[in-house]
Amino acid sequence: MPNPASLADDPAALRRALIAARFTLDGISDCLGPMASQALHREQRLPADLVTRDDTSPVATLVRLFALGLPVGVRQLDRALPGWDTARLRSAGLVRTDGSRAHAAYDLRPYGEDDHQWWVVSDLSEVMTGEPLPVDHVLGIGGASMTLASWTPRRPVARALDLGTGCGVQSLHLAGHAEHIVATDTSARALEIAAWNAALNGYEWDLLRGDLFRPVGGAEFDLIVSNPPFVITPRTDGVPTYEYRDGGRVGDGVVRSLIRQLPQHLNPGGVAQLLANWEVPEGKEWRDVVGEWFDRTGLDAWVVQRDTQDPAEYAELWSGDGGLRAGATGFEQLYGAWLHDFEARGIAEIGFGVITVQLPETRRRPWKELVEVTGPVQSPMGPAIDAGLRARTWLAEAGEQGLLDAHLTVAADVTEERHGRPGAEDPSVIVIRQGGGLRRAVRVDTAVAAFVSVCDGELSTGQALGAIASLLDVPTDELVRGSLPAIQELVADGLLLTGA
Ligand SMILES: C[S@@+](CC[C@H](N)C(=O)[O-])C[C@H]1O[C@@H](n2cnc3c(N)ncnc32)[C@H](O)[C@@H]1O
Repeated sequence: MPNPASLADDPAALRRALIAARFTLDGISDCLGPMASQALHREQRLPADLVTRDDTSPVATLVRLFALGLPVGVRQLDRALPGWDTARLRSAGLVRTDGSRAHAAYDLRPYGEDDHQWWVVSDLSEVMTGEPLPVDHVLGIGGASMTLASWTPRRPVARALDLGTGCGVQSLHLAGHAEHIVATDTSARALEIAAWNAALNGYEWDLLRGDLFRPVGGAEFDLIVSNPPFVITPRTDGVPTYEYRDGGRVGDGVVRSLIRQLPQHLNPGGVAQLLANWEVPEGKEWRDVVGEWFDRTGLDAWVVQRDTQDPAEYAELWSGDGGLRAGATGFEQLYGAWLHDFEARGIAEIGFGVITVQLPETRRRPWKELVEVTGPVQSPMGPAIDAGLRARTWLAEAGEQGLLDAHLTVAADVTEERHGRPGAEDPSVIVIRQGGGLRRAVRVDTAVAAFVSVCDGELSTGQALGAIASLLDVPTDELVRGSLPAIQELVADGLLLTGA
């Protein structure tokens, strides 16, 4: 295991050495060039291998060792990292040697965004080892990790929980805006790797072992993030139960169980951001199935379905995910186990999405919204989630009268499209389109389009709708009744702003 104690005297020493070696996001991209870098993002190593094969620079040495999983010469590695020769890296648990060659014991690479750069240790992937994964594999940073990090609102908070921390990637992001971080996992190996990553990056987290909320007792948090082990796995002999993706429940039980326990662990006004898969039985609508998860929880819930798969697509994805390729011995047996499991419960479709919940701060009816958005969205999405939580909460608290009294303005990223038959005087379709956020395109009628066009904060909603009603020569209450649902939707998603 990587040994965090080896960083104890001077946790920043290895970080400084990695920077000096230019084993940074920029340094690696300069060393590999765009094509090999892009290929490596797609988990294709060959272009990066070819580019670095005759390069003995420190960064190329470290890329070959830690990012490609290739052996490098011990003498070459001795020169790559100031103050960290091969022997010291070996005693830190990061490399092993055989004679004159050093091999990575772990994946180690820089990770970050514009204003942050971290270094992250995780287990070597199957691409690097060429072997199927062991069941106690600790994941590196994947697409799901980055999706959750992108969608998490980054309000400053006092206490945050990272449930199912793995290598600790979500806690790295939390470190920028949470004063105290608790990170949990059932996997002892994951917690050791997270401890290493905390030390390497100069952070202190409470790392606790156990199932879901058990390790935190009755503790409450302002923000809970979880990329939980949501993969639906058949409970059948012979199907591997990978710790990193399998929460040990039947069907989608792990996320349901997590959601039911959230109210006891959120402070009033607290938010939880989760990823999940959900099963949709034959003849049912996903919104009804997932919507029920929140019944009697008292939680506000906002669920965005991003993708759906039929049982065969899901079976293919997850029977191959541990490194077993189609055609390999055992692949069809696993594929069949997934199909049988779904068939036994009458599952027609599996949804994937992002769930945002909030424990209301005041005594009111919780709001609930389930939408499907499969196209690209703003990146990062966190600011839009934060604004969306505030707007939906404002709508729930202000009520219809509050909305009629509000002076709304149009957000800067909103445009209007009008489509009509060639030569027609009036458009047959008017769409109000959002540039950021969920990139909503809302089809509106003439009255709502007219309303949006006068939203400059001058008139209240009620005054503007009254004026439009007399222009269109329709009764005001009829126009208000017909227009308010669309206006609420535009406010909820940030196309119209309340100024609150
Ligand atoms: C999909 S990984 C997420 C890792 C990391 N947080 C990320 O965003 O990439 C799920 C993590 O949950 C852990 N886990 C599995 N079952 C769990 C349970 N019942 N309670 C808490 N954590 C669990 C796994 O060991 C794994 O580290």
